[in-house]
Amino acid sequence: MISVSNRLQETKEYYFSKKLREVAQLKKQGKPIINLGIGSPDLAPPKGVVEELMKATQAPGAYQYQAYKGLDELREAMCDFYKTHYKVNVDQDQEVLPLMGSKEGIALISMAFLNEGDAVLVPNPGYPTYQAATKLLNARLISYNLTEDHSWHPDVEALKKLDLSKVKLMWINYPNMPTGEPVNKQKLQELIRFAKANDILLVNDNPYSMVLTDEKFSIFQLEGASDVCLELNSLSKSFNLAGFRVGFLVGNPEFISAVLKVKSNMDSGMFFPIQKAATKALNLDLAWFEQQNEIYKQRRAIVWDICESLDLSVNTNAVGLFVWAKINSSLSAEALADELLYERDIFVTPGTIFGSNGANYVRFSLCVSVEDLKLCRERILKPKSV
Ligand SMILES: Cc1ncc(COP(=O)(O)O)c(C=O)c1O
Repeated sequence: MISVSNRLQETKEYYFSKKLREVAQLKKQGKPIINLGIGSPDLAPPKGVVEELMKATQAPGAYQYQAYKGLDELREAMCDFYKTHYKVNVDQDQEVLPLMGSKEGIALISMAFLNEGDAVLVPNPGYPTYQAATKLLNARLISYNLTEDHSWHPDVEALKKLDLSKVKLMWINYPNMPTGEPVNKQKLQELIRFAKANDILLVNDNPYSMVLTDEKFSIFQLEGASDVCLELNSLSKSFNLAGFRVGFLVGNPEFISAVLKVKSNMDSGMFFPIQKAATKALNLDLAWFEQQNEIYKQRRAIVWDICESLDLSVNTNAVGLFVWAKINSSLSAEALADELLYERDIFVTPGTIFGSNGANYVRFSLCVSVEDLKLCRERILKPKSV
């Protein structure tokens, strides 16, 4: 018998990979499901980006292997993006690495820095891939709490009390998903000091910095960050290019070259037209984001209405591509998600998939048209059939 590796015994199929099959099945049966579960932007990418993509398919050499570090002009655009939006200087030759999405980056960073038995601090609730990558590398997962009482920020005093001797890496994610909590620079500064004092690589996963945020944040705005931090960024949500698979990693030259060592052995450079189109996107100005955010604001207002009808509380100061809503009844997150799916044909994400601290929450995506959201609101207001 051919058995899978031991590390896979511990790893479950990604929640959405499984659940979306069920949703597709229900749709096939004729159920008019509206998907508020997943954060896959439905709005069109910038027009010029698509044109650039098409044009580049005709360029000489477009179908050849590409450099592992990507085109010079792509890295330059990534650095310009940091300069323009975050006021952070990044060296295009040594401090940035294009990636096939930040999800790839989570795996590559884990491979570059973790030995078997090393421990990793993973947020609860948090993006499930941090856990999965940790387990796949036989590293030890230490989940740390994010709670509403603590404004969803890591409690540094509680972290200091842990046995940190084996901790090598800590994942953070600001602006935060799923909670939508914006960054608190003072608290993060404290966390950087904690990471430095304990030789912990602090990785900020930053794909939501442009969505509904007032302040455009990068961890490298903070003092001492370049000594101990890496930051992942992504074009998926900022430019409606999730299917493009373009992200990037920013950090000091030593950290970047460690990750490049893994990446250059695992894959090759991105498809040339995608790199050209990504360059075009990164060079767009603030007007692009403002226009997107106007649409997200309209959608969010309807989601807030839906939440009120369902007796769910929301934080109206939250940012990002989701609404994280607290259940005020005794219903569990899964029970509410199932009720909405099977009785109202609405798919939402139960907070538990992000960890036990999500047990009283559900997450609504803003990647759904105003028309569909209004339809959801009608379905919710309609009396249940008996
Ligand atoms: C917190 C977080 N990190 C990373 C990702 C993955 O982004 P990418 O498309 O760049 O791989 C997501 C996607 O939903 C996310 O929510």
